[in-house]
Amino acid sequence: DIKGFAFDLDGVIADTAKFHSQAWHNIADQIKVTWTPTLAASLKGVSRMDSLELILESVNRQADFSLAEKQALAEQKNNEYQLLIAKLTPNDILPGIQAFLDELRQHDYRLVLASASKNAPGILENLKVTEYFAAIVDPGLLKAGKPDPEIFEKAAQALHLPTNHVAGIEDSAAGIQSINAAGELSIGIGDLPEAQIQFDTTNEVSLAGIRAQLD
Ligand code: G6P
Ligand code: MG
Repeated sequence: DIKGFAFDLDGVIADTAKFHSQAWHNIADQIKVTWTPTLAASLKGVSRMDSLELILESVNRQADFSLAEKQALAEQKNNEYQLLIAKLTPNDILPGIQAFLDELRQHDYRLVLASASKNAPGILENLKVTEYFAAIVDPGLLKAGKPDPEIFEKAAQALHLPTNHVAGIEDSAAGIQSINAAGELSIGIGDLPEAQIQFDTTNEVSLAGIRAQLD
């Protein structure tokens, strides 16, 4: 049975996926890459540098930029992103998530953050939910990002639980693949057919909703 929950952040706890998109969209416009919904969706859950590579790959232009130029673009994106997240408050917690965090705490589940974002600790602080988490996986120490299972494996280790006692909750296809590959129970928010448990929006997530789909 499940004893711990590993949470993604952007698009699950916080309404920040739109800010990542906004900042990347501006970079895409600047380097004249056409921004499409498919491209935007493919970046969800993917690290900063890997996101830039996917943007360039979408028009076969990876080779047009030096490493230094790529680093400058990624830094520019992050500077804009940080201006957007500086204003976050508890009001930006996605609907239903505060109640779900409270429900999990009440029932003594252990929580860990499994976000690829280096900005995650600051966002948790702004949302005032840091205290719910026993651990935060450091994405700077990962050898491979989502969809590789490493981040969700490390999340289980941080809770001292075998992966089959952990549920992972994600809004991205890459993240669901990572959870499944780690051998955890996958909970998807949105249209994610690979998720074992599915909810349309964060508002529907609850222990009862999860149990109902397990039976
Ligand atoms: C999350 C988001 C991605 C983002 C990544 C890195 O996984 O879903 O869109 O690219 O974090 O975030 P960072 O804040 O480190 O650039
Ligand atoms: Mg996400």
